[in-house]
Amino acid sequence: MGWRRRRGQDISEVVVDPRVQVGSIQLTAPVMTASGTAGHGVELAPYVDLSRLGAVVVKSLSADPWPGNPAPRLIGAPQGMLNAVGLQGPGLKHWLQHDLPALRTMGATVVVSIWGRSVADYVAAAQALRGADVAAVEVNLSCPNLEGRRGIFAHDPTVSAEVVDAVAVCGRPLWAKLSPNTDRVVDVAAAVHEAGAEAVTLINTLLGMVLDPETGRPALAAGGGGWSGRAVHPVAVRTIYDVHTALPTLPIVGVGGVSDGWSAAEMMLAGASAVQVGTATFADPRAPLRVLDELVALVGSHGERAMAALTGRAHRGGW
Ligand SMILES: Cc1cc2nc3c(=O)[nH]c(=O)nc-3n(C[C@H](O)[C@H](O)[C@H](O)COP(=O)(O)O)c2cc1C
Repeated sequence: MGWRRRRGQDISEVVVDPRVQVGSIQLTAPVMTASGTAGHGVELAPYVDLSRLGAVVVKSLSADPWPGNPAPRLIGAPQGMLNAVGLQGPGLKHWLQHDLPALRTMGATVVVSIWGRSVADYVAAAQALRGADVAAVEVNLSCPNLEGRRGIFAHDPTVSAEVVDAVAVCGRPLWAKLSPNTDRVVDVAAAVHEAGAEAVTLINTLLGMVLDPETGRPALAAGGGGWSGRAVHPVAVRTIYDVHTALPTLPIVGVGGVSDGWSAAEMMLAGASAVQVGTATFADPRAPLRVLDELVALVGSHGERAMAALTGRAHRGGW
């Protein structure tokens, strides 16, 4: 079985308690889906028992339906994927009526992600979620701000904090999902925490572009896109490590290139309380549960009984 003895302890029978705490929420397992990579509803249910995951995090939704970008919107490349889906979605009213009940019937813990192009858009989404049967709301701040101060919300601590403060009207625990495309992630994390986010989700995609060798032009219709998958994993680990160093009591949800038990453990050792699996799901729809099972086995093989004890251990001497 490859079990090892550690500190004189017989660990062949170690049973790992997989529960973790993210802010005020206890999750039954530390692995979730990542927003945008598992649909809006029960799309993964034929492959994965959704009730075994820490949570199903659904693709970012706005108050109203949104068509997204023209095709092609996805392209695979070595070690990763480029996407410019453009936040296509049915709108929260439709989702609350159709998708959320189906997810809850399957026993899934649901985290709903919201997006907007103005603070008012985010507030409209938050208001639509008042009283919704969701565990938490993940606020996707990696969206362009079409109001006065242009740029990406998550690149500016002040406007990010403004959004988080404004969406508190939803009445649910808030996780702020941040962008790695800035050297201000620690400042933004501190600002959103101060504004009421119980946790930060690190990281969204990196800005990237792939050219088509036939045409010599950008391969995606939108031009550039978001880069994800194994290649972004060290960026995510570094971001988690830096934020945990600066803000050791702020819960972190790690995401970016998780594809097996070790890459999930690496994020938790760096400071994450839980992880999400995104791009790996496109190659293997069972990836979130496989990662969970591998992570539990790996942690047990180190003689650890509590998954939660892993968080931040890289800062305290490692395993
Ligand atoms: C096709 C696709 C769509 C995505 N859509 C969203 C989205 O709607 N909201 C969001 O916060 N992140 C979205 N993401 C980003 C992922 O949730 C995740 O942060 C990122 O891909 C890094 O994780 P990964 O390497 O495991 O995919 C999307 C990623 C992909 C690949």
